[in-house]
Amino acid sequence: MSVSSSPGLNDLMEDRIARRDWYVAPIIALLYPYLLMGYDTMRVSITQGGGVLSWLGAGLMLLIAIVLPLSGLLTATRLGRLANPSAADVLARRVAFLGVAVAPMFTLTGVVFLLLGKPTWDVGFLTFLWAALIVMISFADRTPLSRQPERQQCHANMRRWHGVAALVAVVYLCFHFSNHLFGLIGADAHMAVMKVLRVVYRSPLIEPALIASFLFLVGSGAYMAWRMTRRPADAIRSFQIAGGVFLIFAVISHINAVLYLARVYFNIDTDWGFAVGAPAGLLHDAWNIRLLPYYLLAVFFVIAHAFCGLRGVMLAHRVSERTATRVLVGGIVFSAVVAVTIILAMAGLRIHFV
Ligand code: HEM
Repeated sequence: MSVSSSPGLNDLMEDRIARRDWYVAPIIALLYPYLLMGYDTMRVSITQGGGVLSWLGAGLMLLIAIVLPLSGLLTATRLGRLANPSAADVLARRVAFLGVAVAPMFTLTGVVFLLLGKPTWDVGFLTFLWAALIVMISFADRTPLSRQPERQQCHANMRRWHGVAALVAVVYLCFHFSNHLFGLIGADAHMAVMKVLRVVYRSPLIEPALIASFLFLVGSGAYMAWRMTRRPADAIRSFQIAGGVFLIFAVISHINAVLYLARVYFNIDTDWGFAVGAPAGLLHDAWNIRLLPYYLLAVFFVIAHAFCGLRGVMLAHRVSERTATRVLVGGIVFSAVVAVTIILAMAGLRIHFV
């Protein structure tokens, strides 16, 4: 039943709707790689002279692949409103959050199987994973869970340290994303700025501290997300958890790609060409296209997630809920603008000053 009221007809209807959606997120996540394959088939058809239908098909497939997994957030939000969830509800809610993170999961899995020497096993592995999760939800216990006493103090400390590590990450990301915006001028401008920034963030003292901060964010975020997905949550809290779950996979995938795949395995420079999958680029390669939704949503979620944290800090300092929520909405719009601009630069958009 919904959190706020005693069980009325509307509450029972809401519960039914929430439970009806149990399987939506894992089914969409299962289809995700096939949508990107569909995009690539259309792209190849365009290069072979395919007409307007191929263009429309390619655009539509890509748009659906970007937007559809976000529906996991709706499912997770609805399930987060249940006051007496069962083990099946909790599992379905966690799987729905995982479904939002399908883009970095696909990239991470692709790289891991590449490193294992089985580059074509990623799609099969993920198909099996999502199918297994669907089966697990269908067999999970449907009786309401008894509430366990929560260790609030431990969670409060974790949240505080998560915030401190996030401050380090935010400072780095301000420079990191500004650097990527120079991609709008070109690869040379991007590299020139990166060379200057590297003097700081690649220095022997700062780089380990930076990586440790990101890994701590992943670990503490996973711990808090696991605990929070047992408790009721409103839409904003669900959005914050979804962003956090996305970032767990995005950060692991990104750090592995930059520090191990590029620097150690391929022994190449992690420059603009590496980021955009040169020479083919993001849009013109069956593998690279998975980077587009992943980068776009990573930039969006990391900024939006930070604004969710800022809203929490503002509320704790007695700023009115209205003002704090307005700041969050502004932050979400800002995240979307930055994410779209960076991805357009990565896809080839350039500005010229002459
Ligand atoms: C459009 C999205 C992104 C692109 C294209 C991108 C690209 C890159 C590249 C090329 C590097 C290597 C930098 C170098 O060689 O000096 C790098 C490093 C890094 N990125 Fe990103 N990044 C993106 C988003 C993110 C996000 C969302 C995060 C965090 C949530 C992040 C965290 C990091 C970290 C921690 C490093 C390692 C820094 C180091 O010690 O070298 N990046 N990224």
